[in-house]
Order: sequence, then structure tokens, then C-alpha cells
Amino acid sequence: MSAPVLEMRGIVKRYGANVVLRGVDLTVDAHEVVVLVGASGSGKSTLLKTANLLERIDDGQILLAGTDISDPRVDADAVRARIGVVFQHYNLFPHLNVLDNVTLALRQVHRVPRSEADARGIVLLERIGLAGHARSYPDRLSGGQQQRVAIVRAIATNPELLLLDEITSALDPQLVGEVLDLVRELKGAGSTILMATHEIGFARQVADRVVFLHQGLVGEQGTAEQVLDRPHQLATRSSSPASCAERRGRRGGCRQRAAPIANLTLWAGFRPLGNNCAMPRR
Ligand SMILES: Nc1ncnc2c1ncn2[C@@H]1O[C@H](COP(=O)(O)OP(=O)(O)OP(=O)(O)O)[C@@H](O)[C@H]1O
Ligand SMILES: [Mg+2]
Repeated sequence: MSAPVLEMRGIVKRYGANVVLRGVDLTVDAHEVVVLVGASGSGKSTLLKTANLLERIDDGQILLAGTDISDPRVDADAVRARIGVVFQHYNLFPHLNVLDNVTLALRQVHRVPRSEADARGIVLLERIGLAGHARSYPDRLSGGQQQRVAIVRAIATNPELLLLDEITSALDPQLVGEVLDLVRELKGAGSTILMATHEIGFARQVADRVVFLHQGLVGEQGTAEQVLDRPHQLATRSSSPASCAERRGRRGGCRQRAAPIANLTLWAGFRPLGNNCAMPRR
């Protein structure tokens, strides 16, 4: 059997006295979509950043396709060239047009000639229906369009692993669907994805495995059904806000009263709305 695409062993990360990750073990196998959930501040973004070497770990080991990338002697840029990343804010380069944004890493990191890179960029933009905007600058695009460009930029180099951090949380609700559709498509195409999201309904649809981060550790992991619907560690299982958030959806209101939020020990990242329906904290 081949090595997992990503293997994180006993990851410890501190910011001063704040120990954010206390020994996280996590693997992502080839073509697997692993979804990180957990309260705000539980360390999801930090974990993603350590996987990409944007943050150095204080202890533990990170293997990418079996190679130890947490060794300080490793060339971090070479590692990052193998991993695609999309953050909450699309982070397109405002001074580059859409096509140049998509092709930049291909040209500058992977040394693909411009004509070849542009051809590949156009194919990717066609895939998301934005080839007509190839020469537009990012500020001419909607947030959802920019985020889709950011995603195809991340996959342009055929990365071994895609890290997605709350990629819809800065979007207007009506733009979320188009971005999630693209992620669904990537999953269908066999991408290997580790993503953090508060979109519980979406997590349920795409996750091969849901990993619940709690107090700096993996509190629980399993299928979406196991973790979101039948969590072992919830004091009050029936009160999981996941189902409520899902019922609420992005467009409709939740008509059903959730159990008292005070019982939700594990789901501290969810705050009650006026209608007693739990909603992810932004
Ligand atoms: N650069 C930093 N310097 C100091 N502390 C940080 C830094 N980045 C994150 N932290 C702290 O690490 C903890 C985890 O933050 P992180 O952003 O990983 O949480 P999260 O689970 O992604 O939260 P959210 O759901 O709100 O995105 C928080 O206490 C945060 O304040
Ligand atoms: Mg985060």
C-alpha cells in the first residue's frame, strides 16, 4: 500500500504560552477528502498552515507522500510547490489579470513556458466558465468568481494535496454554492483534499472523513454520519448543531428548536441564532 499523501504525527504548535496543537495525529490518503471541523480557535487554520510549512511545528513530524517535510533542512519552497492552498480571502494578486494569476506558479515555480501555461490556464478557466474573464483584473470579478479563480490557481500545478481553509466564509451566501460545486467537482476528479469548514451541510456531502479538533487534539474522527450525527463525545448527542445548521441551510430558516446550546460542550464554535438554531461562528 502506498504511503498516505499527508501524515501528521504528534503535531505540537505553540504561540508563546498558548499551546494550540497538543499532539495532533492526522492522515490524508490519496483521493481522500478530509474535513476539519471544530470550534473557532481550535487550531484548524494553524494545522493547515503547519502542513504547508507556513508555520513551523514545535514537535512532531509531517510526511508528504512518505517524505519527512518537517525536517528543518527541507526546502520549504519546494514542498509548497507540491501543495495547493486556498484561504478564506481569495488572495489573488490584484495587479495581475486572472490568467496571469492562474499561471504564475506554473511559469515561475514550475518553469512552464508562457504559451503552454496560458493554454492550461485557459482550459482551467473554461472549466469554471470564466475564460471570458482571462484578461480581467480580479476586482472586476465577484467574490465567488475570485474564489473559483483562486481554486483553479491552486490546482493549476497539479498539486499532490489541496488545503482549503474556510474558502466560503468570506462570501455572500448566494455565492457559496458555486464555490462548493467546484470543490465537489475536484473531489469527483480524484483530488486529495484537506479542508476546514463551518459549512456542515457541505462537509456531510463531500467528506470521506470528518476530523473534529478539540482542545488541540483530534477529539473524534470518522464518517460525517459518525462524527456529525452520532458523536461519541457529545454529552447531549441529540443536540448536535450540525443537523440544525444543515436544516437551516444558507437560504432557508431553521424552524426547529435546537437543544440548549449550553449542553454543546464540543460544539463551542457554534453560537445560537435568535431562532435557537446553531450557526457557525464567523
Ligand atoms: N500567528 C499567530 N500568533 C499567535 N497566535 C495565533 C496565531 N495564529 C493563530 N493563533 C492562535 O491559535 C489559536 C488557533 O487559531 P486558528 O486560527 O488555528 O483557529 P481556527 O480553528 O482556524 O479558528 P476559526 O474557526 O475561527 O478559523 C487561536 O487561539 C489563535 O488566537
Ligand atoms: Mg481558521
